[in-house]
Amino acid sequence: MMRKLYFALSVLMLAATVLQFYFAAIGAFDKPQDDKSFAIHDANGMMVIPLLSILATIVAAIARVPGRLIAFTIVPLGLVILQVLIIVVGHALNDSADNTTPVGLAILGLHAINGLAVGAVAGRVFAGARKVAFAPAS
Ligand code: HEM
Repeated sequence: MMRKLYFALSVLMLAATVLQFYFAAIGAFDKPQDDKSFAIHDANGMMVIPLLSILATIVAAIARVPGRLIAFTIVPLGLVILQVLIIVVGHALNDSADNTTPVGLAILGLHAINGLAVGAVAGRVFAGARKVAFAPAS
């Protein structure tokens, strides 16, 4: 029962991660660009993905799945914190007119690469959760 719930949460986490890329594109195409352009991306990234990571980790621990899988399940939370740090550091390198600098942009671009890492981890958690939820009883 708990393992099925864990699997369901892993599905939601993977779906929220895929949607995060979709919301990033919506923000990028929005015209004019303003504070609201990335509002859905910000909300999904700051609240939905972290909450699902925490909730899924708690359920994984209660369901007593292998420790490695429990540890993997909290990794998206850590990577989201890194996502925010990349933006903070990248913008901290803005010039005096608050425009981006080449070094700042080089760091800000890592946000997309780290996003791929979130997707990869969410995919692995999904695969692991599916395995423990539907493994034949031994
Ligand atoms: C799983 C993947 C991703 C996660 C978890 C994620 C997470 C986040 C979070 C939490 C924020 C809010 C930061 C803050 O308000 O301080 C943010 C902002 C942003 N993200 Fe992502 N992101 C992901 C992928 C991407 C991708 C692929 C792109 C673009 C190629 C992108 C572009 C942006 C931009 C431009 C902002 C700043 C928006 C603003 O100014 O409010 N993100 N992201």
